[in-house]
Amino acid sequence: MLHFLSNWENKQNDLSMKRTKVKELLNSTAYGNEVTVMGWVRTFRNNQFIAINDGSTINNIQAVVDFENTDETLLKRLTTGAAISITGELIESLGKGQKVEVKVKHLEILGDSDAEKFPLQPKKHSLEFLREIAHLRFRTNTFNAVFKVRHTLAFAIHQFFNDRGFVYLHTPIITASDAEGAGEMFRVTNLDFDNPPRSEDGKVDFKQDFFGRSTNLTVSGQLEGELAAMALGEIYTFGPTFRAENSNTTRHLAEFWMIEPEVAFADLQDNMQLAEDLLKYVIKYAIEHCADELEFLKNRLLEEEKSKPQDERSELDLLAKLNFCLSNDFERLTYTEAIDILKNSTPNKKKKFKYLIENWGADLQSEHERFLVEKHFKKPVILTDYPKDIKSFYMRQNEDGKTVAAMDILFPGIGEIIGGSQREERMSLLEKRMDEMHIPKDELYWYLDTRKFGTAPHAGFGLGFERLVLFVTGMTNIRDVIPFPRAPKTAEF
Ligand code: 4AD
Ligand code: MG
Repeated sequence: MLHFLSNWENKQNDLSMKRTKVKELLNSTAYGNEVTVMGWVRTFRNNQFIAINDGSTINNIQAVVDFENTDETLLKRLTTGAAISITGELIESLGKGQKVEVKVKHLEILGDSDAEKFPLQPKKHSLEFLREIAHLRFRTNTFNAVFKVRHTLAFAIHQFFNDRGFVYLHTPIITASDAEGAGEMFRVTNLDFDNPPRSEDGKVDFKQDFFGRSTNLTVSGQLEGELAAMALGEIYTFGPTFRAENSNTTRHLAEFWMIEPEVAFADLQDNMQLAEDLLKYVIKYAIEHCADELEFLKNRLLEEEKSKPQDERSELDLLAKLNFCLSNDFERLTYTEAIDILKNSTPNKKKKFKYLIENWGADLQSEHERFLVEKHFKKPVILTDYPKDIKSFYMRQNEDGKTVAAMDILFPGIGEIIGGSQREERMSLLEKRMDEMHIPKDELYWYLDTRKFGTAPHAGFGLGFERLVLFVTGMTNIRDVIPFPRAPKTAEF
């Protein structure tokens, strides 16, 4: 009779016991060795085969129980979601689809999972449903893969910049400024909401607030990044940013992570090159380090697209799309050239665009960006030299008096993935622009000081991390590539 332990609570000390990760075992040929596996039950079939996942890989290891010699009540507790520890012999598997399996000698239930109540069953769940149980969705293969890729991309970003001598700069999360000047900020306060102090004119008196002024969550670390770049030379930020824009789309979050490099003695051309190099580097890194995950996500996407009409399906599968992106130069053109293409495009002539392109100066909507990338050029596009009136105050003004040295990188299926510019380093022009756009110069005296003391050409950009993860994973909703999405009316967990 095999010996089975079933009461974990009394055996806490055994946690020190060595376990081998599933990923390692699946690649092992040490047949005959005794191993311990800890993980969660994915399925339990034929009263015999347990599929165990411990998160180290999306693949499960199979454990085989000698059910005839195992306590019936213990077998009943092998339900989907239960945490278990097994010890047994690693053997060559005769079954299809796996090289190895574990012949169970000891089986312990670490934590039961009531089969009636556990929301994840061994079947396909919709992403919408999984979003509602985001606290448990990590336990699915899809989210295991997505968050592995997310991690790998984050790591690759640090690697890229570190290799090039950039300094990782931690910019503040609470600020008193609006870097983008778009007014889409979340206020930070600890004033009594029901009875705030007021000044004589009846307005809330933020002088009495925690910081002695009105503060908000940062929308971008750029302005502080510029300060550091003007001394350290090359910096990047990688942190959370917050936008109170009421955009309920598959591309917007209220809390998202942004990577913002800033480079001294660089112009728009250098900026474009850095951005293209960065994107290609991290995509390549993901292909090389997340082969299993990307293969899984590729098949997931193919499956998902089966329900779509032929003309809405992707022309390339996920891996082909990523490789295509690596092997082609991004198309570079000016906003003015893009407007010409759009004006003469079929959807514009046939009035298929929701926002028709009539005049130079129009802001591009995502339908226009996607037309350029997905239909016209069929590859990533860098648009430059936008009209100054649709861009931020800090962008460098071009000779024509109408445009600024801005760049947006547009990706297939995503639209804008990067926004950046060469910065206006000329004090008088910057001040003039700030006045025109009603940006408070006195509050940003510290920003202007960089232009006052040793100003120099510099440039930078912001890469939306979740949009990058969307692209690489082939997921379609940005809420599925961040563990706990924050969006309008959404802040659970
Ligand atoms: O174009 P944005 O607003 O640029 C900036 O914030 C500049 N300060 C960047 C810089 O030059 N240092 O945002 C940059 C990128 C966008 O291209 C997009 O990928 C992402 O951030 N982004 C969002 N991602 C998710 N949800 C949102 N609400 C986003 N808003 C912008
Ligand atoms: Mg932008």
